Amino acid sequence: MSLFSRVVVTTLPLVPKFVVGHVAKRYVAGETREEALGTAKALNESGALATMDVLGEEVSKRSKAEAAVEEYIRLFEAIEERGLDANVSIKLTLLGLKIDETFCRENVARVAETAASFGNFVRIDMEDSSVTDATLRIYREVHGRYGNVGAVLQSYMRRTLRDISELPAEAPNIRLCKGIYIEPRAIAWKRFETVRANFVAALDKLMRTGVYVGIATHDEHLVCEAERLIDRYALGRDRYEFQMLLGVDEELRRILLDRGHRLRVYVPYGRDWYPYSIRRLRENPEVARHVMRATLGLR
Ligand code: FDA
Repeated sequence: MSLFSRVVVTTLPLVPKFVVGHVAKRYVAGETREEALGTAKALNESGALATMDVLGEEVSKRSKAEAAVEEYIRLFEAIEERGLDANVSIKLTLLGLKIDETFCRENVARVAETAASFGNFVRIDMEDSSVTDATLRIYREVHGRYGNVGAVLQSYMRRTLRDISELPAEAPNIRLCKGIYIEPRAIAWKRFETVRANFVAALDKLMRTGVYVGIATHDEHLVCEAERLIDRYALGRDRYEFQMLLGVDEELRRILLDRGHRLRVYVPYGRDWYPYSIRRLRENPEVARHVMRATLGLR
Protein backbone atom coordinates (compact mmCIF):
# COMPACT_ATOMS: atom_id res chain seq x y z
CA MET A 1 0.00 0.00 0.00
CA SER A 2 1.39 3.43 -0.89
CA LEU A 3 2.14 5.99 1.82
CA PHE A 4 -0.79 8.08 0.55
CA SER A 5 -3.19 5.11 0.79
CA ARG A 6 -1.94 4.40 4.30
CA VAL A 7 -2.62 7.99 5.36
CA VAL A 8 -6.16 7.79 3.91
CA VAL A 9 -6.78 4.47 5.64
CA THR A 10 -5.73 5.78 9.07
CA THR A 11 -7.78 8.95 8.65
CA LEU A 12 -10.91 7.12 7.40
CA PRO A 13 -12.84 7.78 10.64
CA LEU A 14 -12.56 11.51 9.82
CA VAL A 15 -14.13 11.11 6.37
CA PRO A 16 -17.80 12.20 6.32
CA LYS A 17 -20.18 9.24 6.76
CA PHE A 18 -21.97 9.89 3.46
CA VAL A 19 -18.66 9.62 1.56
CA VAL A 20 -17.84 6.33 3.32
CA GLY A 21 -21.36 5.13 2.48
CA HIS A 22 -20.92 6.03 -1.18
CA VAL A 23 -17.63 4.12 -1.47
CA ALA A 24 -18.71 1.18 0.71
CA LYS A 25 -21.98 0.47 -1.14
CA ARG A 26 -20.37 -2.43 -3.00
CA TYR A 27 -19.80 -4.37 0.24
CA VAL A 28 -23.37 -4.15 1.59
CA ALA A 29 -26.56 -5.54 0.01
CA GLY A 30 -28.68 -2.65 1.29
CA GLU A 31 -30.47 -1.52 4.42
CA THR A 32 -33.45 -3.90 4.17
CA ARG A 33 -34.09 -7.65 4.35
CA GLU A 34 -35.82 -7.46 1.00
CA GLU A 35 -32.70 -6.06 -0.70
CA ALA A 36 -30.53 -8.75 0.89
CA LEU A 37 -32.91 -11.52 -0.20
CA GLY A 38 -32.76 -10.12 -3.75
CA THR A 39 -28.95 -10.29 -3.63
CA ALA A 40 -29.06 -13.89 -2.33
CA LYS A 41 -31.44 -14.85 -5.13
CA ALA A 42 -29.15 -13.34 -7.76
CA LEU A 43 -26.17 -15.18 -6.22
CA ASN A 44 -28.07 -18.48 -6.28
CA GLU A 45 -28.96 -17.89 -9.92
CA SER A 46 -25.25 -17.42 -10.68
CA GLY A 47 -24.44 -20.75 -9.00
CA ALA A 48 -23.21 -19.32 -5.67
CA LEU A 49 -24.57 -19.86 -2.15
CA ALA A 50 -25.11 -17.06 0.37
CA THR A 51 -24.60 -16.44 4.05
CA MET A 52 -26.67 -13.50 5.25
CA ASP A 53 -25.55 -11.17 8.01
CA VAL A 54 -27.60 -8.59 9.89
CA LEU A 55 -25.21 -5.68 10.40
CA GLY A 56 -24.57 -4.41 13.90
CA GLU A 57 -22.17 -5.08 16.76
CA GLU A 58 -21.26 -4.11 20.31
CA VAL A 59 -24.86 -3.47 21.41
CA SER A 60 -25.35 -2.32 24.99
CA LYS A 61 -29.16 -2.51 25.13
CA ARG A 62 -31.02 -5.83 25.50
CA SER A 63 -33.80 -4.56 23.25
CA LYS A 64 -31.34 -4.15 20.34
CA ALA A 65 -30.07 -7.72 20.73
CA GLU A 66 -33.64 -9.03 20.92
CA ALA A 67 -34.58 -7.10 17.78
CA ALA A 68 -31.63 -8.73 15.98
CA VAL A 69 -32.84 -12.20 17.06
CA GLU A 70 -36.31 -11.39 15.67
CA GLU A 71 -34.75 -10.20 12.41
CA TYR A 72 -32.83 -13.50 12.08
CA ILE A 73 -36.03 -15.47 12.71
CA ARG A 74 -37.86 -13.49 9.97
CA LEU A 75 -34.84 -14.02 7.72
CA PHE A 76 -34.94 -17.82 8.11
CA GLU A 77 -38.67 -17.78 7.35
CA ALA A 78 -38.08 -15.75 4.18
CA ILE A 79 -35.14 -17.95 3.07
CA GLU A 80 -37.37 -20.99 3.45
CA GLU A 81 -40.41 -19.38 1.78
CA ARG A 82 -38.37 -18.34 -1.28
CA GLY A 83 -36.41 -21.59 -1.50
CA LEU A 84 -33.05 -19.80 -1.30
CA ASP A 85 -29.78 -21.67 -0.78
CA ALA A 86 -28.58 -19.47 2.06
CA ASN A 87 -27.65 -19.71 5.73
CA VAL A 88 -26.86 -16.91 8.19
CA SER A 89 -23.83 -15.44 9.95
CA ILE A 90 -24.20 -13.81 13.35
CA LYS A 91 -22.00 -11.58 15.51
CA LEU A 92 -22.21 -12.32 19.21
CA THR A 93 -21.68 -8.71 20.27
CA LEU A 94 -24.85 -7.89 18.30
CA LEU A 95 -26.64 -10.67 20.18
CA GLY A 96 -25.68 -9.20 23.56
CA LEU A 97 -22.31 -10.78 24.44
CA LYS A 98 -21.01 -7.51 25.95
CA ILE A 99 -24.19 -7.27 28.09
CA ASP A 100 -24.26 -10.76 29.57
CA GLU A 101 -22.93 -14.11 28.32
CA THR A 102 -25.96 -16.15 29.43
CA PHE A 103 -28.34 -13.68 27.75
CA CYS A 104 -26.27 -13.92 24.56
CA ARG A 105 -26.12 -17.73 24.67
CA GLU A 106 -29.91 -17.92 24.91
CA ASN A 107 -30.27 -15.51 21.98
CA VAL A 108 -27.92 -17.67 19.91
CA ALA A 109 -29.91 -20.74 20.97
CA ARG A 110 -33.14 -19.14 19.68
CA VAL A 111 -31.53 -18.43 16.32
CA ALA A 112 -30.07 -21.96 16.14
CA GLU A 113 -33.39 -23.53 17.14
CA THR A 114 -35.19 -21.62 14.37
CA ALA A 115 -32.49 -22.67 11.89
CA ALA A 116 -32.84 -26.31 13.00
CA SER A 117 -36.61 -26.17 12.46
CA PHE A 118 -35.87 -25.32 8.79
CA GLY A 119 -32.91 -27.71 8.47
CA ASN A 120 -30.65 -24.66 8.17
CA PHE A 121 -27.32 -23.54 9.67
CA VAL A 122 -25.86 -20.68 11.74
CA ARG A 123 -22.28 -19.42 11.46
CA ILE A 124 -20.88 -17.46 14.41
CA ASP A 125 -18.47 -14.83 13.06
CA MET A 126 -15.29 -14.29 15.08
CA GLU A 127 -14.78 -10.76 16.41
CA ASP A 128 -11.78 -9.29 18.25
CA SER A 129 -9.71 -11.17 20.83
CA SER A 130 -11.63 -9.76 23.81
CA VAL A 131 -14.43 -12.21 22.93
CA THR A 132 -12.60 -15.22 21.41
CA ASP A 133 -12.94 -17.48 24.47
CA ALA A 134 -16.59 -16.59 25.08
CA THR A 135 -17.41 -17.02 21.39
CA LEU A 136 -15.89 -20.51 21.27
CA ARG A 137 -17.62 -21.42 24.54
CA ILE A 138 -21.04 -20.38 23.22
CA TYR A 139 -20.32 -22.13 19.90
CA ARG A 140 -19.57 -25.43 21.71
CA GLU A 141 -22.63 -25.16 23.97
CA VAL A 142 -25.19 -24.25 21.30
CA HIS A 143 -23.73 -26.59 18.67
CA GLY A 144 -23.89 -29.34 21.31
CA ARG A 145 -27.62 -28.63 21.72
CA TYR A 146 -28.72 -28.23 18.06
CA GLY A 147 -25.85 -29.61 15.94
CA ASN A 148 -26.20 -26.89 13.28
CA VAL A 149 -23.75 -24.19 14.38
CA GLY A 150 -20.31 -23.36 12.98
CA ALA A 151 -17.49 -21.11 14.18
CA VAL A 152 -14.72 -19.04 12.61
CA LEU A 153 -10.97 -19.29 13.27
CA GLN A 154 -8.48 -16.60 12.28
CA SER A 155 -5.03 -17.53 10.99
CA TYR A 156 -3.45 -14.36 12.42
CA MET A 157 -4.13 -15.69 15.94
CA ARG A 158 -1.28 -17.65 17.48
CA ARG A 159 -3.80 -19.88 19.31
CA THR A 160 -5.57 -21.17 16.18
CA LEU A 161 -3.80 -24.53 15.76
CA ARG A 162 -4.53 -25.30 19.42
CA ASP A 163 -8.18 -24.24 18.99
CA ILE A 164 -8.49 -26.73 16.13
CA SER A 165 -7.33 -29.52 18.47
CA GLU A 166 -10.11 -28.55 20.88
CA LEU A 167 -13.02 -28.50 18.42
CA PRO A 168 -16.06 -30.56 19.37
CA ALA A 169 -16.00 -34.12 18.01
CA GLU A 170 -19.54 -33.84 16.63
CA ALA A 171 -19.51 -32.58 12.98
CA PRO A 172 -17.45 -29.40 13.39
CA ASN A 173 -17.89 -26.83 10.61
CA ILE A 174 -15.26 -24.09 10.62
CA ARG A 175 -14.74 -21.00 8.48
CA LEU A 176 -11.05 -20.19 8.24
CA CYS A 177 -10.04 -16.59 7.47
CA LYS A 178 -6.98 -14.42 8.06
CA GLY A 179 -8.68 -12.11 10.60
CA ILE A 180 -9.55 -8.44 10.29
CA TYR A 181 -9.25 -6.86 13.75
CA ILE A 182 -6.11 -5.11 15.02
CA GLU A 183 -4.54 -7.40 17.61
CA PRO A 184 -1.35 -7.08 19.73
CA ARG A 185 1.75 -8.97 18.61
CA ALA A 186 1.74 -10.96 21.86
CA ILE A 187 -1.24 -12.97 20.62
CA ALA A 188 -1.28 -12.46 16.83
CA TRP A 189 1.11 -13.09 13.96
CA LYS A 190 1.87 -9.77 12.31
CA ARG A 191 3.78 -10.47 9.10
CA PHE A 192 1.73 -11.03 5.92
CA GLU A 193 3.67 -14.18 4.98
CA THR A 194 3.40 -15.63 8.49
CA VAL A 195 -0.39 -15.15 8.52
CA ARG A 196 -0.51 -16.91 5.14
CA ALA A 197 1.70 -19.77 6.40
CA ASN A 198 -0.49 -20.25 9.46
CA PHE A 199 -3.59 -20.23 7.21
CA VAL A 200 -2.12 -23.12 5.20
CA ALA A 201 -1.09 -24.98 8.38
CA ALA A 202 -4.57 -24.52 9.89
CA LEU A 203 -6.33 -25.49 6.66
CA ASP A 204 -4.18 -28.62 6.40
CA LYS A 205 -5.01 -29.59 9.99
CA LEU A 206 -8.75 -28.95 9.53
CA MET A 207 -8.93 -30.97 6.32
CA ARG A 208 -6.74 -33.78 7.67
CA THR A 209 -8.97 -34.18 10.71
CA GLY A 210 -12.19 -34.31 8.66
CA VAL A 211 -13.59 -30.88 9.60
CA TYR A 212 -15.93 -29.26 7.03
CA VAL A 213 -14.10 -26.04 6.06
CA GLY A 214 -15.31 -22.72 4.70
CA ILE A 215 -12.14 -21.41 3.01
CA ALA A 216 -12.71 -17.66 3.36
CA THR A 217 -10.15 -15.78 1.32
CA HIS A 218 -9.62 -13.75 -1.87
CA ASP A 219 -5.87 -14.32 -1.72
CA GLU A 220 -4.94 -16.26 -4.89
CA HIS A 221 -1.91 -17.82 -3.20
CA LEU A 222 -4.20 -19.32 -0.53
CA VAL A 223 -6.79 -20.41 -3.09
CA CYS A 224 -3.98 -22.24 -4.88
CA GLU A 225 -2.79 -23.86 -1.61
CA ALA A 226 -6.39 -24.84 -0.81
CA GLU A 227 -6.79 -26.56 -4.18
CA ARG A 228 -3.52 -28.44 -3.54
CA LEU A 229 -4.83 -29.68 -0.16
CA ILE A 230 -8.26 -30.58 -1.59
CA ASP A 231 -6.43 -32.68 -4.14
CA ARG A 232 -4.04 -34.22 -1.61
CA TYR A 233 -6.87 -35.34 0.71
CA ALA A 234 -9.15 -36.20 -2.26
CA LEU A 235 -11.96 -34.14 -0.73
CA GLY A 236 -15.38 -34.27 -2.37
CA ARG A 237 -17.43 -31.08 -2.86
CA ASP A 238 -19.42 -31.95 0.24
CA ARG A 239 -16.33 -31.57 2.49
CA TYR A 240 -15.51 -27.88 1.96
CA GLU A 241 -16.61 -24.63 0.33
CA PHE A 242 -14.88 -21.42 -0.68
CA GLN A 243 -16.27 -18.21 0.80
CA MET A 244 -15.91 -14.62 -0.38
CA LEU A 245 -17.22 -11.20 0.60
CA LEU A 246 -19.85 -9.34 -1.38
CA GLY A 247 -18.21 -6.70 -3.56
CA VAL A 248 -14.76 -8.33 -3.69
CA ASP A 249 -13.13 -9.92 -6.75
CA GLU A 250 -16.13 -11.21 -8.69
CA GLU A 251 -13.76 -12.57 -11.32
CA LEU A 252 -12.17 -14.96 -8.81
CA ARG A 253 -15.68 -15.92 -7.67
CA ARG A 254 -16.56 -16.91 -11.26
CA ILE A 255 -13.28 -18.82 -11.71
CA LEU A 256 -13.89 -20.90 -8.57
CA LEU A 257 -17.47 -21.69 -9.60
CA ASP A 258 -16.34 -22.66 -13.09
CA ARG A 259 -13.77 -25.00 -11.57
CA GLY A 260 -16.64 -26.85 -9.89
CA HIS A 261 -16.18 -25.67 -6.29
CA ARG A 262 -19.02 -24.74 -3.98
CA LEU A 263 -18.74 -21.02 -3.21
CA ARG A 264 -20.63 -18.96 -0.65
CA VAL A 265 -20.85 -15.16 -0.63
CA TYR A 266 -21.19 -13.16 2.59
CA VAL A 267 -24.20 -10.84 2.23
CA PRO A 268 -24.41 -8.19 4.95
CA TYR A 269 -27.38 -5.84 5.23
CA GLY A 270 -28.99 -3.41 7.63
CA ARG A 271 -28.87 0.13 8.89
CA ASP A 272 -25.68 -0.33 10.96
CA TRP A 273 -23.37 -0.59 7.96
CA TYR A 274 -20.70 1.89 9.12
CA PRO A 275 -18.21 -0.19 11.24
CA TYR A 276 -18.36 -3.11 8.78
CA SER A 277 -17.73 -0.78 5.84
CA ILE A 278 -14.79 0.91 7.55
CA ARG A 279 -13.14 -2.52 8.10
CA ARG A 280 -13.69 -3.44 4.44
CA LEU A 281 -12.29 -0.13 3.19
CA ARG A 282 -9.23 -0.49 5.42
CA GLU A 283 -8.23 -3.74 3.69
CA ASN A 284 -8.83 -2.39 0.19
CA PRO A 285 -5.60 -1.16 -1.41
CA GLU A 286 -7.70 0.89 -3.83
CA VAL A 287 -9.27 2.74 -0.94
CA ALA A 288 -7.40 6.01 -1.42
CA ARG A 289 -8.45 6.32 -5.05
CA HIS A 290 -12.09 5.52 -4.23
CA VAL A 291 -12.24 7.92 -1.29
CA MET A 292 -10.64 10.72 -3.31
CA ARG A 293 -12.99 10.20 -6.24
CA ALA A 294 -16.06 10.06 -4.00
CA THR A 295 -14.95 13.11 -2.06
CA LEU A 296 -14.62 14.96 -5.36
CA GLY A 297 -18.04 13.70 -6.44
CA LEU A 298 -16.63 11.55 -9.27
CA ARG A 299 -18.10 8.11 -10.07
P1 FDA B 1 -5.94 -10.21 1.43
O1 FDA B 1 -6.38 -9.18 2.43
O2 FDA B 1 -4.49 -10.37 1.20
O3 FDA B 1 -6.71 -9.94 0.07
C1 FDA B 1 -6.38 -10.64 -1.11
C2 FDA B 1 -6.87 -9.80 -2.26
O4 FDA B 1 -8.29 -9.71 -2.20
C3 FDA B 1 -6.40 -8.34 -2.20
O5 FDA B 1 -5.18 -8.16 -2.83
C4 FDA B 1 -7.52 -7.61 -2.93
O6 FDA B 1 -7.33 -7.77 -4.31
C5 FDA B 1 -8.74 -8.41 -2.53
N1 FDA B 1 -9.45 -7.83 -1.38
C6 FDA B 1 -9.43 -8.26 -0.11
N2 FDA B 1 -10.23 -7.51 0.67
C7 FDA B 1 -10.76 -6.57 -0.14
C8 FDA B 1 -11.68 -5.49 0.05
N3 FDA B 1 -12.23 -5.24 1.22
N4 FDA B 1 -12.00 -4.74 -1.02
C9 FDA B 1 -11.47 -4.98 -2.25
N5 FDA B 1 -10.60 -5.98 -2.48
C10 FDA B 1 -10.24 -6.76 -1.46
N6 FDA B 1 -12.58 -11.77 9.56
C11 FDA B 1 -12.72 -11.93 10.90
O7 FDA B 1 -11.87 -11.46 11.67
N7 FDA B 1 -13.81 -12.59 11.40
C12 FDA B 1 -14.76 -13.15 10.60
O8 FDA B 1 -15.71 -13.76 11.09
C13 FDA B 1 -14.60 -13.00 9.18
N8 FDA B 1 -15.53 -13.51 8.32
C14 FDA B 1 -15.26 -13.51 6.96
C15 FDA B 1 -16.14 -14.15 6.09
C16 FDA B 1 -15.83 -14.23 4.74
C17 FDA B 1 -16.77 -14.96 3.81
C18 FDA B 1 -14.61 -13.65 4.25
C19 FDA B 1 -14.22 -13.77 2.81
C20 FDA B 1 -13.80 -12.96 5.10
C21 FDA B 1 -14.11 -12.86 6.46
N9 FDA B 1 -13.29 -12.16 7.34
C22 FDA B 1 -13.48 -12.30 8.70
C23 FDA B 1 -12.27 -11.21 6.81
C24 FDA B 1 -10.91 -11.86 6.66
O9 FDA B 1 -10.36 -12.11 7.92
C25 FDA B 1 -9.96 -10.97 5.85
O10 FDA B 1 -9.81 -9.75 6.50
C26 FDA B 1 -10.39 -10.70 4.44
O11 FDA B 1 -10.93 -11.85 3.84
C27 FDA B 1 -9.19 -10.28 3.58
O12 FDA B 1 -8.23 -11.30 3.58
P2 FDA B 1 -7.86 -12.19 2.29
O13 FDA B 1 -7.61 -13.59 2.78
O14 FDA B 1 -8.90 -12.04 1.26
O15 FDA B 1 -6.45 -11.68 1.85
